[in-house]
Amino acid sequence: VYSEESVAAQKVAQHIAEIIRKKQAANEMAVLGLATGATPIQVYANLVKMHQEDGLSFKNVITFNLDEYYPMRPDAKQSYVTFMDEHLFSHIDIPKENIHIPDGTLPKDEIADYCLDYENKIGELGGLDLQILGIGRTGHIGFNEPGSAPNSGTRLVTLDDLTRRDAARDFGGKENVPTKAITMGVGTIFKAKEIILMAWSKKKASIIKKAVEGEMSGNVPATYLQLSDNVRFILDEDAASELT
Ligand code: F6R
Repeated sequence: VYSEESVAAQKVAQHIAEIIRKKQAANEMAVLGLATGATPIQVYANLVKMHQEDGLSFKNVITFNLDEYYPMRPDAKQSYVTFMDEHLFSHIDIPKENIHIPDGTLPKDEIADYCLDYENKIGELGGLDLQILGIGRTGHIGFNEPGSAPNSGTRLVTLDDLTRRDAARDFGGKENVPTKAITMGVGTIFKAKEIILMAWSKKKASIIKKAVEGEMSGNVPATYLQLSDNVRFILDEDAASELT
């Protein structure tokens, strides 16, 4: 628990930079699982700063984003492709071909194969060295909404009504928020060598309490993380304020 988001985000960014540098020294690729949304924005800002001011290179980094709305055009304002470009990718030296974000333009009958391929690609690279997560007020990680199975893989899912309400502002009304998304599964996330879930502000306090101290249940998918030995919750004081 950190006094404030900015301090916590800097720590997480430094940890990511360490992974990247260690891999560089060993001539290996760093495979990172990334999240979108408000939560990781300052982490990405810190990484951009390290690239610009300290020469941190991302040439040996391969990324897999957790999710994308479906349907979604990559050039749409609300797409996670646009988000990642704005906050990270357009400011760093990561090779374009190393970036993976679920494709929101696929015909429905191609999605299952595509998802399997997404999963396999991660496996072939030796798995994710680190997965960073935010948490939704439904308890979702990625877009694994209540009802998701602990061993779920990358797949097309239906978004919870609360998730769509929370996204309404970005889309100019809930009716414009896609009803579906492609997301890595809980099982996919679990295979990462290390998981960091971040949450800031009072708005997240009650779901953080449920995730950390509540009974493990598919009703709050983040509770599955209680089973992992490789997970850390990085919180500000507000998000941690309901923990006993
Ligand atoms: C984003 C994602 C979601 C968000 C969560 C929190 O890629 O998978 O699980 O992390 O909805 O969103 P924010 O950070 O906007 O509160």
